[in-house]
Amino acid sequence: MENKLPECMVAFPTVFAVGENYNIFIPFSAEVLVKIRVAGKMYYDDCCGILRSNTNMHKVEVPMSALNEARSYTVIYREMIDRKPYFPTSKDEKEITFEFNPVPDSGKINIYHVSDAHNLVEEPVNAGRFFGSDLHLLVLNGDIPNHSGDVKNFNAICEIASGITEGRIPAVFARGNHDTRGIHAEDMPAYIPIHNGKTYYTFRVGCIWGIILDCGEDKPDTNAEYGGTICFHEFRLRETDFINQVIENAEKEYLAEGVKHRLVVCHMPFTYIQSPPFDIEQELYGEWSRLIREEIKPSLMLYGHMHICRVSAVGGEMDHQGQACPAIFGSRPIFSKDGKNGFEGCALTLDDEKTTVWFNNDKGEILNKIEL
Ligand SMILES: [Fe+2]
Repeated sequence: MENKLPECMVAFPTVFAVGENYNIFIPFSAEVLVKIRVAGKMYYDDCCGILRSNTNMHKVEVPMSALNEARSYTVIYREMIDRKPYFPTSKDEKEITFEFNPVPDSGKINIYHVSDAHNLVEEPVNAGRFFGSDLHLLVLNGDIPNHSGDVKNFNAICEIASGITEGRIPAVFARGNHDTRGIHAEDMPAYIPIHNGKTYYTFRVGCIWGIILDCGEDKPDTNAEYGGTICFHEFRLRETDFINQVIENAEKEYLAEGVKHRLVVCHMPFTYIQSPPFDIEQELYGEWSRLIREEIKPSLMLYGHMHICRVSAVGGEMDHQGQACPAIFGSRPIFSKDGKNGFEGCALTLDDEKTTVWFNNDKGEILNKIEL
């Protein structure tokens, strides 16, 4: 099923996996009402019963089980003419149907990892097409927009996902430290997947279980750069409680039937102690590392932030807190004054016996291939 982008749709839908649901995000350039039909049942973008139109980013929550079974969904939208208090007017309804392929329950799983795009779109999309239509899951791992000073920056999230997935496969999202900067950082939860109001959560897609972690900023809360606008130490303490709750609930999380691969997805490499002033939370991150190493026992950790493409081995020079498993630093944006920007990202194939990692770029070149 080939789809053309309808005129007022800024990007194809992005189907984010969150807990036991998909959060489907669609940016529009016009004021529209949005609903999604899956196997005859309607799901709405509403706020307490009000269909939303006063936003450019629409979000519809659909149970994973329903979409996994139906394998297609139909986006139905209606452009508003005048949303007056009485007898509001709108244009005719339009609809577009997308096929959907859930992550398989077995066999080889192909994943592409993008972080640190910092508002680049075309370059990470070109790199992210590595697997073509054989891709099963897209990971967007922080600092996708350059900052949150302008809500338009948030479109980069859906534009990259749209270019790589075309609405046909799931994606997961982790927040990065640049996402926390700017007047609209507090509005970001309306533009990104969250679970019970939180940017850290677990997800299950096919044979993959994953935990999304969010370190917030990269320097102390008191750093002058933030001007007293953040409180991430308390946020991280709450996240420690969350990790412990996940461990208490292990039977329904990473020990659940059918889980073959356990992923940790986090923008900041919390097992790597950086030089001052970035050497924060060593004790707290040490505890996260211990809990993950001793209890969750993941098969792979996916990091961004450092703008490098590299595998950090257990006990290697970038493992300062005791990694549970290999950690992949999976993206390198390239900014050039002459406008010739570029992007290097990470393609992964998870198999029962081994993981294959390719670092590639937007020019179609493979820079490195590593088997773990
Ligand atoms: Fe970062």
